Amino acid sequence: MKLIHLTDTHFVAPPKKLFALDPRARLAPAVADINRRHADAAMVVVTGDLTHWGEPAAYAALKQTLDGLQVPYRLILGNHDDRAAFLAAFPDSPVDEAGFVQWAEDTPAGRFVFLDTLIPGTDGGALCAERLAWLRRTLEAAAGTPVYLFLHHAPLDLGIKGMDAIRLHNPEALLAPLQAHGQVRHIFFGHVHRAIAGSWHGIPFSTLPGTNHQVLLNFHRDDVPGSHEPPAYGVVLIGADSLVMHVHNYLDASPRFEMTEATEPLGRPEELPWLDDPLEAHLKRPAHAAAE
Ligand SMILES: [Fe+2]
Repeated sequence: MKLIHLTDTHFVAPPKKLFALDPRARLAPAVADINRRHADAAMVVVTGDLTHWGEPAAYAALKQTLDGLQVPYRLILGNHDDRAAFLAAFPDSPVDEAGFVQWAEDTPAGRFVFLDTLIPGTDGGALCAERLAWLRRTLEAAAGTPVYLFLHHAPLDLGIKGMDAIRLHNPEALLAPLQAHGQVRHIFFGHVHRAIAGSWHGIPFSTLPGTNHQVLLNFHRDDVPGSHEPPAYGVVLIGADSLVMHVHNYLDASPRFEMTEATEPLGRPEELPWLDDPLEAHLKRPAHAAAE
């Protein structure tokens, strides 16, 4: 099963920019690239901070961009989101009995569980008693089934102090039902705007750069400096006994080359269409390219 992980799109009401970048212009190439390379994916999951200020116009713009995907998409909420404005723009989004944007769905790989960690007015996240009760019930109903978890906030310290201060505030409350279930295969989260992987109490996790702006890698500042480092999405391949994630910097246009001979042509992606473009793979490498 193939899954695409995207996160932290931070849309604002057009034509505004955010940190000197246009979030629409940063996400649209990801949509085009996913359609071109990964139309066979089962779904695209966006793990929160869909918008920066929760503006209705920002959600409308996000919907317009994501509706261009040829792959079904799923959206969860981050600290920058507004639950009511989100649900107004995406009325078909599942919610639990209490109105939180969290749900579970069964896939060929196992049960995907999507959590709502938004606490309005705070940058950190938490799971309240109601949301935890829902999680316990959901995991109990999936006994014996592999589970993959999606949430916005990091449930652990990552070494970036400014982000550690606004992680999930009650990680132990999340951990207990996960350990009771015993078959949580992976945790995907957003929020941190960097590519990071590791494990938490033996459970593997990963997170990714946002599509708009990034958090600068630093281990000493207490605040959160940003950067325009490149965005990325994750291509997740889930097998019966494995999970692999490739981090794809979809805006990268650095030179490509054939690894076989030192004399092979060096060129930008659009100049070497036969090299790695699945829709151009029928093209034969030009004879002169091999001969030069
Ligand atoms: Fe974010």
